[in-house]
Amino acid sequence: MARVYNFSAGPAVLPEEVLKEAADEMLDYRGTGMSVMEMSHRSKAFETIINEAEADLRELMNIPDNYKVLFLQGGASQQFAMIPMNLMKNRKAAYIVTGQWAKKAFQEAKIYGDAVEVASSADKTFSYIPDCSDLPIPEDADYVYICENNTIYGTKYKTLPNTKGHILVSDVSSCFLSEPVDVTKYGIIYGGVQKNVGPAGVVIVIIREDLITEDVLPGTPTMLRYKIHADAGSLYNTPPAYGIYICGKVFKWLKKQGGLAAMKERNEKKAKILYDFLDESKLFKGTVRKEDRSLMNVPFVTGDADLDAKFVKEAKEAGFENLKGHRTVGGMRASIYNAMPIEGVEKLVEFMREFEKNNGKED
Ligand SMILES: Cc1ncc(COP(=O)(O)O)c(C=O)c1O
Repeated sequence: MARVYNFSAGPAVLPEEVLKEAADEMLDYRGTGMSVMEMSHRSKAFETIINEAEADLRELMNIPDNYKVLFLQGGASQQFAMIPMNLMKNRKAAYIVTGQWAKKAFQEAKIYGDAVEVASSADKTFSYIPDCSDLPIPEDADYVYICENNTIYGTKYKTLPNTKGHILVSDVSSCFLSEPVDVTKYGIIYGGVQKNVGPAGVVIVIIREDLITEDVLPGTPTMLRYKIHADAGSLYNTPPAYGIYICGKVFKWLKKQGGLAAMKERNEKKAKILYDFLDESKLFKGTVRKEDRSLMNVPFVTGDADLDAKFVKEAKEAGFENLKGHRTVGGMRASIYNAMPIEGVEKLVEFMREFEKNNGKED
């Protein structure tokens, strides 16, 4: 069996320990004689799985009692619609556009009401996070929306925007559980799990209870109402059961690693190896303003598209997979989520050093 170093932006690398455990339990989950894939979501065994997953997530993120945890489907993209449908009481919301995912959420919200772009970093290809200390947020905005870690461009908010008392809604798909967060600062914090937490098919929504109401926009489908899912404990219909089971295993793995503070320390150490190299390299360059660099997604370029392609090809041959940048940006991107071992980044940097020696520009 040969496992590669997988730098995919998502679906992405998962802890090997978790995959092995799932493999061991594939045919007979703890004496039930069946796989979790085959069991009723109303069974005792699955009830334990989902309850433990929620309890472990609450412990990891220190989620207060006045927040609900929902395990939903439809990916992060479904939340782009669900959020305005459930929260736009005044039909107005402020969006900070720091990349493609924020932009997609912004455009979707425009279908339902007056979504206002209050800041953007489009002027420099989303390579920085704008100053969000004093934004022109409309008084009657129902919420302020951000994408906290921009998967494609590799930027991350280091301080949250000043929402001027408005509810903050944050897409954390690509930085989920990568460091501690103060949940009380958010109205909704949500993410698709397929990057840092589990297999595609599950989106986790952590929502303050007072935002869960029956007062939703007319025509909101039953399946897109937070209240329906909250009242049913995420079991209104058949949930993505196997995905939730794997997420639960990842939560336990994270607890074993020492929790989110330990993950942050490890992620900082890991990212520093790559960023330090990019800063000293004469061939490779990081594309993001230094103070806004993500710990999870690291885009870089050589400045020569042919050389970029050669690098991606040779890296693949050497066992470093999925280093090609997003199709809209080009260049390279290394996604180094929680489950990427430090050794993977060290080896990548070694490979980049060697590539530079063989292809470097003369001074
Ligand atoms: C930050 C962010 N938000 C949203 C999405 C969309 O997620 P999904 O494919 O689950 O709808 C992605 C996907 O890559 C993402 O990186």
